[in-house]
Amino acid sequence: MPGAPVADAVFSDLAPRLAALRSAGRRPGLGTILVGDDPASAGYVRMKMAKAAELGLASPHVHLPAGAAQAELVAAVESLNADPAVDALLVQHPVPGHLDYEAALARVDPDKDADGAHPLNMGRLALALPGPVPCTPAGIEALLAHYQVPVAGRHVVIVGRGFTIGRPLSLLLSQKRPTANAAVTVVHTGVADWADHARRADILVAAAGVPGMVRPEHVRPGAVVVGAGVRYEGRRLLPDVDEACAAVAGWITPRVGGVGPTTIAMLFRNAVEAAERRAGLADRKAGEDP
Ligand SMILES: NC(=O)c1ccc[n+]([C@@H]2O[C@H](COP(=O)([O-])OP(=O)(O)OC[C@H]3O[C@@H](n4cnc5c(N)ncnc54)[C@H](OP(=O)(O)O)[C@@H]3O)[C@@H](O)[C@H]2O)c1
Repeated sequence: MPGAPVADAVFSDLAPRLAALRSAGRRPGLGTILVGDDPASAGYVRMKMAKAAELGLASPHVHLPAGAAQAELVAAVESLNADPAVDALLVQHPVPGHLDYEAALARVDPDKDADGAHPLNMGRLALALPGPVPCTPAGIEALLAHYQVPVAGRHVVIVGRGFTIGRPLSLLLSQKRPTANAAVTVVHTGVADWADHARRADILVAAAGVPGMVRPEHVRPGAVVVGAGVRYEGRRLLPDVDEACAAVAGWITPRVGGVGPTTIAMLFRNAVEAAERRAGLADRKAGEDP
């Protein structure tokens, strides 16, 4: 299940919506804040700005020095909140250790929350209210829908309860919608027999950040495996899912280019939807597929 065709479908859906915004005299803006010069984070921000340029979005950027104070980070968030050219914004994660990312995120205007990670939007997700949805979980739902993997009524097991993937994905896939409506089990370090749960999954999502932890013996033959968790050692990407799982799984994301491209596509979907809301154009429901 490569992510690129799914991302392409999302961008195709966004194209006429961007054209409608342009016709209404609006050029959407995705603001980014980078603290420090971590090469991976700087690379992610560059890639997001390049994609914004390709789609015709403005991409105001604030680059703070690695030693920036929390007050400077908050001031940068507030300046993009107040900037009428910015429809959506994000603080690139992680920030240097002396800074409080969650506190900065809480200062982002929830209606301009490109990552869908603000506590208010997590609440909207829990209540199935419209709003920006966390990008990686939204991308995983779109990935499953694109490859026509049945989710409704099936058993999804998610390894990890992190706030980026596991927790919001469990909320999203248990919502009462045709591309969700699953029985969802979330396992973590508090579940010693997580492997027993994993073996009962119709759809197994790895979101732990523990390289190679999902092995073929954890996969029911024919089950669907989604690898979202990764760790980097220098430039080497180490996925949670052992490649040998491909021999057992019915459907599986590739080692590279699975969930990543769909995550980026959902970031831009959130940005375009934020611009549409501000322009008074059509709205969509939380987690709705393109
Ligand atoms: N592909 C993408 O586009 C993308 C985007 C964002 C993030 N990620 C990756 O996704 C992963 C998860 O990120 P996150 O922020 O949601 O989560 P996180 O905060 O990194 O938490 C990891 C979760 O995995 C669980 N876990 C760790 N080791 C485990 C083990 N041995 N057995 C069972 N559970 C275990 C932890 O359990 P406890 O809660 O008990 O500690 C925790 O719930 C990370 O690797 C991150 O790099 C990928």
